[in-house]
Amino acid sequence: MTKMLAPAPVGLDAVPGNAGLPYVGYALDYMRDPLKTYERRYRQHGPVSWFRFAGDPWVVLIGPDACGAALQNRDRALANGPGWRTLIGPFFDRGLMLLDGDEHSSHRRIMAQAFTRDRLSRYTEALHPAIDAALDGWSPRDGFRAYPAMKELTLGLATAIFMGGAEETSPREMDAVNAAFVGCVQAATAIVRYPLPGTRWRRGVRGRRHLEDFFRRYLPARRAGDGDDLFSVLCHVESEEGERFSDDDVVDHMIFLMMAAHDTSTITLSTALRYLGQFPTWQDLCRDESEALGTETPSFDDLERLTTVDLVIKECQRLVTPVPGVVRRAVADTEILGRYVPAGTLVNVGLHYTHHMTEYWPDPERFDPGRFAAERREDRVHKYAWTPFGGGAHRCLGMHFSGTEIKTVLHHMLLRYRWHVPAGYETPLNFTSLPYPQDGQPIDLHPR
Ligand code: HEM
Repeated sequence: MTKMLAPAPVGLDAVPGNAGLPYVGYALDYMRDPLKTYERRYRQHGPVSWFRFAGDPWVVLIGPDACGAALQNRDRALANGPGWRTLIGPFFDRGLMLLDGDEHSSHRRIMAQAFTRDRLSRYTEALHPAIDAALDGWSPRDGFRAYPAMKELTLGLATAIFMGGAEETSPREMDAVNAAFVGCVQAATAIVRYPLPGTRWRRGVRGRRHLEDFFRRYLPARRAGDGDDLFSVLCHVESEEGERFSDDDVVDHMIFLMMAAHDTSTITLSTALRYLGQFPTWQDLCRDESEALGTETPSFDDLERLTTVDLVIKECQRLVTPVPGVVRRAVADTEILGRYVPAGTLVNVGLHYTHHMTEYWPDPERFDPGRFAAERREDRVHKYAWTPFGGGAHRCLGMHFSGTEIKTVLHHMLLRYRWHVPAGYETPLNFTSLPYPQDGQPIDLHPR
């Protein structure tokens, strides 16, 4: 039976939906098969509906109209911090994505200065040696597990680019930092959300403290120096209005940025390795372009000439959207597509399902990078049809950095290796938090 979330005031409709199982609601259905769960929901209730998810009622937004309305957030009734905190706990508090209103705008203006074209060029230079060093340590073979290898690689890159030239720090200290960071990430999706001994949550609390101490210890040296790593850059950047980050801000942003940059790029890379392995024609096209660049260490400008790999990356982010949904909480009564959303409601903006809707994407389950090519541009069907980086005021600030990082890694891989994945293979994705391949994404990897 369809129940309503809350009675609507005159002029608005209530949000339709149903709770599902006691307490868990639709959480298990979603984790088992998010696309099927949202498909049923959309057919039954339309683009705005509600369900229970692990105890709380959530409004679920499906399709570009509903997602676009929430991302634009015209009346500022939907807040990020109170939304995301429910899902990822306190471990990334005061990161840019969790700030709201004027404070968010001010911090975003400052942080944008750390991602200018000039900065991106310098980060790109630092990527090459770090990627080479990581690939030198690989042992290519049949059944090579691409996902864990990429996870280690991107964490190494984050350490190099974000804290590069951390000459004072020892490898052991960096291992401890990485472990603390992984502790925070794992705690964010823990089921037991209280610091009992032996729990992920407790490791997360300790991890956060460790990271704060670490960044705070090295902060004075970064303030005094003029390094090109992101940590140094955040200490010095200034918005056009003359705003700057305090020491606490730098620490909070660094911890969040490590998280934002890590799993998302890993997922895209691992998805790209799968599909390029299954579609050798696309792999060859990408490799031809990489070879045509005539350099193993392309600059930021050179990378812009790798246009085929751009199409592949976009298609991979459509098929496996690294952040499948973004979270908001209504902090004032509002409406979405004429449906009444009362203050306090949690909102899930369903980006991943929207990328698979037959209404907007011809043959949506097919790997077809050409759909993004200039002569087709299927993503132009709606401004919010393709939104792996979100939209509106909180649109991903690392979008261009991530593009550079992913392209540079793929460029190095295309020049060094060939790989193959059987045509009929399907990735068993786990959606407990961000999607990851439960089998580690095996590929048959061989040196060229
Ligand atoms: C494939 C890679 C990535 C994807 C798919 C991705 C996706 C997203 C999404 C969907 C949001 C919006 C969240 C919201 O609306 O609540 C976001 C925000 C953000 N991302 Fe990314 N991201 C990626 C890589 C990165 C990287 C590499 C960095 C940093 C170097 C980064 C930094 C940020 C920041 C700072 C925000 C917050 C922006 C704001 O709230 O104003 N992201 N990202």
